[in-house]
This record gives sequence, C-alpha cells and structure tokens, in this order.
Amino acid sequence: MKQKTTGYSLLACGALFGISVATSAAAADVSKLTESCIGCHGKGGANTEVAIPNIGSYSAEYMTGAMKLYKTKERPCPEVKIPGGAKKGSKSDMCQAIKDLSDADIKQIADSFAEQKFVRTPQKFDPALAKKGKALHDKLCEKCHSEGGSVASDDAGILAGQKMAYLDEQIKFFTEGKRPMAKKMKPKLEELDKAGIEAVIHYYGSFK
Ligand code: HEC
Ligand code: HEC
Repeated sequence: MKQKTTGYSLLACGALFGISVATSAAAADVSKLTESCIGCHGKGGANTEVAIPNIGSYSAEYMTGAMKLYKTKERPCPEVKIPGGAKKGSKSDMCQAIKDLSDADIKQIADSFAEQKFVRTPQKFDPALAKKGKALHDKLCEKCHSEGGSVASDDAGILAGQKMAYLDEQIKFFTEGKRPMAKKMKPKLEELDKAGIEAVIHYYGSFK
C-alpha cells in the first residue's frame, strides 16, 4: 500500500547501512513515528530551543537507552512548549512523547536519528572558562566522551556543541541523583566543583 512508494529509497538506504531487507518494509512508517519528535527536536534532530537537545547522529544504542529511561520515568521529563509541527504551542514532555511507543518503534526511531548529522549550536561562551574546562574535561571526561564529547559511537550522548542550558540541567539531574549515571562517571563528576562544572559546559559550548 502506501509503503510501496517509499520502499525503494529505503531499500537503497538500508543496503548502504547494511540493514537487512526484511526490516525495510516496516521502516517505511518511520517518518510517521518521528513526526512528533521533529515537532520538538526539529528536522534531522536539530532545533534552536535551549532546553531541547539536538539529537541527530546520536548512536542507536544511546537513543534506545535514553528513550527507555523516559518510558520508565527514570529520567526526569521537564515540560516544554512544542516549537513546531501540528501541536505547536502546546506543552508536553519526553515521557508523554514516548509512552505509546513499542520497543520495535523505539528501535526504528533510534536508527533513523542515528543516520542524521549532529548540528552544533552556536552559543555564547567565555573563552577563558572554555580553556579551563578543556583541561578538566581532558583529565576527567575525555576517556568516555572522546574528542570533547563529539563521537556518537562512544554511546554517551554528544556534548560538543550541545545546548549549554540542557547540559547544565542534566549535570544537576546527575548530581542530585535524579538521572542514573554510568558507575565510573560518578566519581569523576564529583571531582568537579560548581566552577568546574561551569567551565566544562563553556568548553562544550565553544564547539562550532
Ligand atoms: C514536547 C517536546 C518533545 C517531544 C515531542 C519529543 N522530545 Fe525528546 N526531548 C525533549 C526535551 C525537553 C528533552 C530534554 C529532557 C531532559 O531534560 O532530559 C528531550 C530529550 C530527548 C532525548 C535525550 C537526549 C540526550 O542527550 O540524552 C532523546 C534521545 C529524545 N529526546 C528523543 C526523542 C524522540 C525519539 C522523540 C519522538 C518519539 C522525542 N524525543 C519527542 C522534548 C521532546
Ligand atoms: C566511565 C565513563 C564516563 C566518564 C569518565 C564520564 N562520563 Fe559522562 N556519560 C557516560 C555515559 C555512558 C553517559 C550516558 C548515560 C546514559 O546512558 O544515560 C554519559 C552521559 C553524560 C552526560 C549527558 C549527555 C546527554 O546527552 O544527556 C553529560 C552531560 C556527561 N556525561 C558529562 C560528563 C562529564 C562532565 C564528565 C567528566 C567530569 C563525564 N561525563 C565523565 C560515561 C562517562
């Protein structure tokens, strides 16, 4: 039916990324599944809202993990005003966005964002703080967030060029125990005082 029209391009795309032919028919519906995501996160996962992270290129592994944490409400779901699409202007959050999705839907959605490019947000940052932040990052964070946190295959999100306000809030969630964190990240993050946290955030914001 309607899947036929897009079947070809998806098949070609699937072949390119080594996805089996069997999944390509189901994948035709992925644009429907991602429609609501795009209303908040923007096309290709890039938007200009400070509280909404850009998610293009995020690894499918990380995306799947994150979405499951919202589904079980193990990650807080701050409310935002939907910036675009059919529900523009109304308020919602990640827990709402994810609640009716099956594991199979989540996997398809994750794969589709993983194929996009990450768009770095141009942000105001303090160069002296960013320099201090780079030194702290290299010492404490680079091991898992390589190249300044710009490598999607680290499965640890993208920090370089991510929204500074978003990162600030996530670090608060981590330190307040509201978001689960990698066991070995905890002692490293605890080595940063308030000024250190501010410095690493300016470092991530300095990526253009
Ligand atoms: C109502 C707006 C809204 C909608 C709709 C929405 N998101 Fe989000 N999303 C957010 C906000 C706000 C955050 C940051 C929440 C937080 O503080 O953890 C977020 C966070 C995320 C994250 C975590 C990013 C990270 O760096 O850890 C992922 C992954 C994500 N969204 C994927 C999706 C997908 C996939 C969809 C569609 C099924 C979707 N979102 C729909 C607003 C939205
Ligand atoms: C042992 C590995 C490890 C170390 C060291 C580490 N992290 Fe992480 N970090 C992770 C992983 C894994 C995640 C993804 C957590 C998840 O799955 O929700 C993450 C997630 C994050 C996030 C959330 C990203 C997002 O998109 O929401 C931030 C911010 C962050 N780390 C900052 C830091 C900072 C700052 C340091 C250094 C002080 C650091 N991390 C050190 C492994 C690490």
